[in-house]
Parts: sequence; C-alpha cells; structure tokens
Amino acid sequence: MPEVPAAEDSLRHWLAWLGIQLAAHCDAPEQEARWLLEEILDSGTELWSHPQAPLGETRRSHLLALLARRMSGEPLPYCLGHWSFMDLDLRVDPHVLIPRPDTETLVRWALAHLPEKGSVLDLGTGSGAIILALAQARPDLDYWAVDRCEDALAVARHNGAVLGLSVHWCAGDWCQALPAGQRFSLVLSNPPYLATDDPHLAELDAEPISALVAGETGLESYQAILAGLPAHLEPQTRIAFEHGHEQGPALRQLLRAHGWEGVETHRDLAGRERVSSAVWSTLYA
Ligand SMILES: C[S@@+](CC[C@H](N)C(=O)[O-])C[C@H]1O[C@@H](n2cnc3c(N)ncnc32)[C@H](O)[C@@H]1O
Repeated sequence: MPEVPAAEDSLRHWLAWLGIQLAAHCDAPEQEARWLLEEILDSGTELWSHPQAPLGETRRSHLLALLARRMSGEPLPYCLGHWSFMDLDLRVDPHVLIPRPDTETLVRWALAHLPEKGSVLDLGTGSGAIILALAQARPDLDYWAVDRCEDALAVARHNGAVLGLSVHWCAGDWCQALPAGQRFSLVLSNPPYLATDDPHLAELDAEPISALVAGETGLESYQAILAGLPAHLEPQTRIAFEHGHEQGPALRQLLRAHGWEGVETHRDLAGRERVSSAVWSTLYA
C-alpha cells in the first residue's frame, strides 16, 4: 500500500491522491478514484457539495481497504459490490459474471420482441441482469431464470427482491431445471461461450470460470440448451443468444440444424456480430 497523505484530509485531496495511486493499475484512474471515494461517503453528493469536508478515520480505513483490493487486481465492480447494467444497480460478487455493455445488445433486442403475454426465460442468469432489465420494463409478464450455480442464484434473487421484481428462480442444469410442461414465448441466454484454450481467459481470472468456459469448442452450452428446449417451446417462440463476435456463422448453423427459422445476427455497438435470434418452426412443434 502506498504512503497515505498526512497533511490534508479533505475529500478533494483524497480524490486527487487516489487518482495518482490508481494510474498504474487501470485505464480510467480519475473515474475509478471518484467511484471508490463515493462508495464510502455518506451520500452520493457529498464529494461535489462538500469537497473540503474531512474524510475522517473510519472512512479512511474503509477507503484504503477498497483501494488495496483494487490495486491487487480485483475488478472494480467486485470491490464496490455492485455494478450498473441498463438502468439497474445490481449486486455483484465473484460468483457472478460482471454484467457487460455487450449484453445490452441482447436486452435491447429482447425489449423489442417481448410478447404481449406469456412467459420469458433467461438461461444462465448470473446476477439476473438480463431478466431483471426486462421485468423492470414490462412487469406484467411471467419471468423465469435458471442458473446451475446456487451462489449466483442467491445474488440474482437478492437483486430481484431489492428491485421488487418477480421472477421464478430455478437452480439446475439448463432446461432440466424447468418444471415439465412449462412453455415460453421468448427464450434468452448469454451462456458461457469461451473455449477451454481461449487466450482471453488469462485476463478474466477474477470471474467464475463456470460462467465463461463452455468446453473444448466454445459451442457446448448452445448445443445443450438447444437440445433441451423443444419440450418448453410454443409454436412461434423466439430465441436470442449472445455469442462471441466470431461465433455468428456457427450459431446460425446450429440454430437451423435444431429446427429454428428466421435466423438473424445482430451487431453490438462496436459493429461486431454479438446476438443471433430465431423463431421456432411450427413444423417441429
Ligand atoms: C456468461 S454468464 C451470464 C450471466 C448473466 N446472464 C449476464 O449476462 O451477465 C453464464 C451463466 O451461466 C451459468 N451456467 C453455466 N453452465 C450452466 C448450466 N449447465 N446450467 C445452468 N446455468 C449454467 C453460469 O453459472 C453463469 O452464471
């Protein structure tokens, strides 16, 4: 831990000091300094309304503990214990994937394709980011979410309760976690999609490997989900998967091979293929 400033205890001074400490550890040190400091203040406005106020002993220990975690390489959202996704502030911890801006592509597609009535399913819910963003926008629908990791599901349940949103949370392996006979009008999933030897895994070592790695090819989660879904589909169920930006062709092929029609791929804000969607063919229903 670097030496702490002795002379001045003002919030403004601590903000500048934090930025200097973080410069070698992250890409946006000033922004992160502000988030860390705001996290331990009594109100979100104190930093700009009373920049000369003293930090004080208790808050200083709390701040230094957070800074030590961040400087040891822990991702900022885990240090803060919460992160924002769409308009939601969600609890996150190392049992759940940190919700990514990429996933907003999937949610935006889903918002445009919510059914008038019926049930919506999120497979591999993690923090609950996808299903809660939809439930927030359209609380009148029936929402379901599955995760194999009980600790992740506890985080999702907490987020749903804090937001006052109703979701049927199911623990287990993909569609096996669902009650027999339960059918869905819309199915969404951002499952693990990295291959075991993906070079990106080295930068993602703070996040749960079970949320990231699908298997040898990276397509195993999609295959397992598509194989288990037919008993839970209606004649015109829509589906959308988030996927790696190089997996579009494989996903389109997989969806068609499992009897889905109207297969399309949608690009993220960076212009990369990110989400593939389709409609369940009545021939297979
Ligand atoms: C990539 S994370 C997505 C989390 C969240 N939906 C999001 O977009 O931020 C994938 C999630 O799938 C869950 N998962 C992995 N294998 C599973 C399986 N066989 N059955 C159910 N859930 C699974 C993981 O625990 C993890 O929470």
